[in-house]
Amino acid sequence: MPPVALQPEPSPYPALESVLVSEAQIKKRLKKLGAEIMALYGQEEITVVAVINGAILFTADLLRNIDNPIRLDCIRISSYRNDTKSNGKPQVLGNLSLDLANRHVLLIDDILDTGKTLSLIVSMIRKLGPASVRTCVLLDKRGRREVEFEADLVGFQIPDKFVVGYGLDYAERYRNLPCIGVLKPHLQNPPEWA
Ligand code: IMP
Ligand code: MG
Repeated sequence: MPPVALQPEPSPYPALESVLVSEAQIKKRLKKLGAEIMALYGQEEITVVAVINGAILFTADLLRNIDNPIRLDCIRISSYRNDTKSNGKPQVLGNLSLDLANRHVLLIDDILDTGKTLSLIVSMIRKLGPASVRTCVLLDKRGRREVEFEADLVGFQIPDKFVVGYGLDYAERYRNLPCIGVLKPHLQNPPEWA
């Protein structure tokens, strides 16, 4: 997938310095991603594993662009606390409930950054004996990788900026913004959120 040319725009949202990916760009890209996924899987049933909370909005909208039979499960991981940098090793906070043995698993996350989270989950899933495992992320910050990892499907390649919106948070805020943008620096580490 070629990187999408991103033109940061001044933001109408008070918390954002700029908009990196607009609501319309997300909608358009999700249609194409849905078509790519249907072409990859043919008539097969897909077992989707969404990494929550971040992938909730992306997964909900993406799945509505896929016609295959789908089973949906979620896994909860914490890799960032109230900070804009990864705090080391991701922790599994909630586990899977569906059986993944002999299933075609599609792991969905909001963003691929250092690669630690997805490589950990993929190795966990592989131990459960799936028929296949693929990964799909909305955003990819390729320049920040600390472990070798590439997603099979990527919505947008983005520069190394801390972004919020459309599921992505800073200290659990801003997930509900309909677009993806760069948070204003003075809103990082406000004392009232300590
Ligand atoms: P990784 O393990 O470093 O690849 O981190 C992936 C996780 O870090 C994602 O699921 C996000 O929750 C979080 N993350 C990474 N970059 C950002 C960002 O720019 N904004 C918000 N969350 C981020
Ligand atoms: Mg996340």
